[in-house]
Amino acid sequence: MLAAKPKAGWVNDADPEKDWKKNILRLHDERKFADPVNKPLYVQALAKVGYNAAGLETTAAGGKPVLCAACHSSNALQASGVFGVRALTHALHTLHAPVTDPATNQTLNAGTNRSTCYTCHPGSTTQCLRGAMGNAVDTSGNQEMGCQSCHGNMTNVGNVARTGWLQEPNCQACHHDGVRETVAVDANGLPLVWTDTRFATNPNVPASGYSLYRFSTGHGALQCEACHGATHAEYPSSHSQDNAQSLDLQGYAGPVVECTACHTTVPNTTTGGPHGMHTIGQAWVSAHHDVAKGSGQQACTVCHGADYRGTPLSKTRIARTFKVENGSKTFAAGHDMNCYDCHNGPSGG
Ligand code: HEC
Ligand code: HEC
Ligand code: HEC
Ligand code: HEC
Ligand code: HEC
Ligand code: HEC
Ligand code: HEC
Ligand code: HEC
Repeated sequence: MLAAKPKAGWVNDADPEKDWKKNILRLHDERKFADPVNKPLYVQALAKVGYNAAGLETTAAGGKPVLCAACHSSNALQASGVFGVRALTHALHTLHAPVTDPATNQTLNAGTNRSTCYTCHPGSTTQCLRGAMGNAVDTSGNQEMGCQSCHGNMTNVGNVARTGWLQEPNCQACHHDGVRETVAVDANGLPLVWTDTRFATNPNVPASGYSLYRFSTGHGALQCEACHGATHAEYPSSHSQDNAQSLDLQGYAGPVVECTACHTTVPNTTTGGPHGMHTIGQAWVSAHHDVAKGSGQQACTVCHGADYRGTPLSKTRIARTFKVENGSKTFAAGHDMNCYDCHNGPSGG
């Protein structure tokens, strides 16, 4: 705590929202003016952006709001900053990686869960991480993934080799070859790379060398977000409002999977659906026997499992009833549909 206290003492403002901000400005001024290496750059930058030469605290006190990105570049604002001053994401995450969080007595870099990042990012009350990954729990009920699972730790985020706001995690780092990893980065914080692109974001969006989810499109040239929702609130989200579109389209929360949600006439297809899926529902139960004969079964293993006994990729998200040869069969929501459900294995019969 004391490490963040300005040498001239705390600024005390009756408005709590202004109080901490003024303290940051004071601390920033003190550190830069006392730093022989960076002082000349600071003095030059203050002049260049038209701020008071006495520093940021005086600038703000004079009624001029301080914009960090005026000096520190940020791709969120397409602000190029002042040459020689580090990007805001780099300066911020790197400086704070080794500081001790008084709440845990650990450095922020050692933090392994979302509360570390929520010290600055919105979420402690707004729950910004609330989608399919954010809500996943292990068998003991502990959250399976946090911010670091996808983004790495503070040092990784602050890595000068990263381009902030454009080099972000992707889905295929974890979702590949029928597997779901729980960590998307290697020990150096670099994204895991696999050759399987079934669940991949598009290359080179929004610019060459990047691959952002929110600019990617999939089945029917639809945005990934049309069927999955926003980045940190993927269907099914724990906030009911986030699920509104999937509820409207198909009646339940989850990736939009029902072919009838969009197609008035359901195409009969073996691999033409989202991510190479077949038609779902009774039409497919009645039609799959031809394609599944002989070597055709191999194409089913990626989702139904190498042993054809089902995996999370063949899960039905609602209860379904199908007509089969001797009557009908009902499956509960969450059941991993498999080739032993209705007959004795992948050869039918
Ligand atoms: C007038 C230009 C200017 C503005 C505005 C500015 N900074 Fe800086 N800042 C600098 C310079 C120069 C440095 C030192 C060079 C560097 O670290 O890249 C620096 C360094 C930093 C550092 C590293 C800190 C350290 O002491 O090692 C952080 C963190 C930082 N600034 C955050 C901010 C934040 C947050 C804001 C907005 C509230 C802000 N800056 C506004 C010029 C500026
Ligand atoms: C399941 C993986 C995953 C988790 C967990 C995750 N993120 Fe992200 N995050 C992403 C992806 C993917 C993007 C890029 C989204 C895009 O295409 O714009 C991103 C982007 C961001 C951005 C840039 C702004 C934006 O929305 O594009 C911020 C800031 C961010 N994440 C912070 C966090 C914080 C803080 C946490 C923890 C509370 C967190 N993330 C947890 C995957 C994740
Ligand atoms: C000390 C405050 C602070 C902490 C702690 C913090 N962040 Fe940030 N983060 C920021 C600020 C400020 C920005 C905005 C930078 C900008 O505008 O370019 C930011 C931006 C980001 C971005 C988007 C820019 C980029 O580099 O792509 C990501 C992603 C991100 N943070 C992830 C995280 C994760 C993950 C954690 C926890 C391990 C974390 N942050 C902890 C202050 C913080
Ligand atoms: C850090 C690894 C990781 C990343 C990155 C990741 N996921 Fe996941 N995802 C998982 C895991 C693990 C599960 C299984 C969660 C569980 O056990 O409930 C999962 C489950 C899902 C599910 C199924 C949810 C359900 O209720 O059946 C969907 C859909 C999904 N992810 C979409 C995405 C999308 C879209 C992205 C990219 C924006 C993404 N994932 C990125 C690890 C990841
Ligand atoms: C037309 C709707 C649709 C579009 C568009 C779409 N998806 Fe999907 N996605 C689905 C369905 C349906 C599933 C569930 C498939 C399953 O259960 O095997 C799924 C599953 C996923 C999964 C999770 C697989 C798992 O382990 O459960 C990921 C990751 C994913 N999609 C990523 C993407 C990405 C990235 C894009 C954009 C490039 C995208 N999706 C576009 C419908 C869509
Ligand atoms: C969220 C909406 C959405 C969902 C859900 C969806 N599709 Fe589509 N599908 C589209 C769009 C849009 C196109 C492109 C139509 C065009 O180009 O005219 C398309 C095209 C197709 C095509 C190409 C041939 C054609 O009819 O144009 C096939 C095959 C197909 N979808 C099968 C499926 C199957 C099977 C499912 C269910 C597993 C499914 N779709 C679910 C929106 C969807
Ligand atoms: C891309 C993933 C994927 C592949 C590949 C795949 N399936 Fe499926 N299959 C699913 C999912 C998901 C369901 C559950 C759909 C539902 O009920 O919501 C399913 C369900 C089924 C059903 C029950 C019908 C239904 O709507 O639940 C049959 C039969 C079936 N699959 C046969 C096959 C055969 C045969 C193959 C190989 C030719 C195959 N599947 C390949 C994902 C896949
Ligand atoms: C929801 C029930 C159901 C599921 C799940 C299911 N099947 Fe079938 N399957 C049937 C029915 C009913 C028949 C026979 C009726 C028909 O051919 O229309 C059949 C027939 C077959 C046949 C033809 C057998 C013959 O002797 O002609 C093959 C091959 C087959 N299924 C493969 C698969 C594979 C592979 C899977 C798993 C990926 C699978 N089935 C999952 C209901 C199912």
